[in-house]
Amino acid sequence: MLPAESECLVGGIRPVQRLANAGASAEKRSAAGNLRVMRVAEGFASVNELFGALNAARDADDEGGLSILDHCLQCADLIKVARPDDVELQVAALVHDLGWLERAPNGWALRLDAAHDVDGSQLVRRLLGPRVAYLVGSHVAAKRFLLATDSSYRAVLSARSETTLEFQGGVMAPEETEAFVALPEWEDLVALRRADDAAKIRGKLVPGLDAWTAAVEEVAAAG
Ligand SMILES: [Fe+2]
Repeated sequence: MLPAESECLVGGIRPVQRLANAGASAEKRSAAGNLRVMRVAEGFASVNELFGALNAARDADDEGGLSILDHCLQCADLIKVARPDDVELQVAALVHDLGWLERAPNGWALRLDAAHDVDGSQLVRRLLGPRVAYLVGSHVAAKRFLLATDSSYRAVLSARSETTLEFQGGVMAPEETEAFVALPEWEDLVALRRADDAAKIRGKLVPGLDAWTAAVEEVAAAG
């Protein structure tokens, strides 16, 4: 459940704006004048910093009492089973929703707006490389693609995914789906998206964050 703007989440992570304000959040006034510029998320400088954000996500509600960290751990675990040889895809699953966070004076704050895929991609690109950034940056597009091509897909969407769809561009048009399947990694994007949708089970036991240290370090070393 999305928190109200003034509501403090468990552990003190505070939403910086309402979901309904999506769109405006992707822009801000430049220091030089009135020109509005796109927000650019500063990339993680180290594995330690990345794990700091993941730890902060432990206190950020994803939906219905499930934390963003637990959701990401479930997603990564599903991909590890489905794609045991693709460590980059597994790590992309682990970090795919970190774009909901942004730096705050004392750590990380939760921001609820339309650009979490783009911001997440920017956050991880420097540390984890272009493929992981690409996978993270395209996981919303995969939702829009599946809605257009799989008649049974809408039934698996969570309430929040339905809500966010409104400002993520809605269902893909036919020409967009043609472009999507021309992407080199489109099947990986679909696999990530399906794991994303399935990774919302409260109380499910999966390996914790420590279990992912070696994989993240491996991808960071190659990135
Ligand atoms: Fe997700």
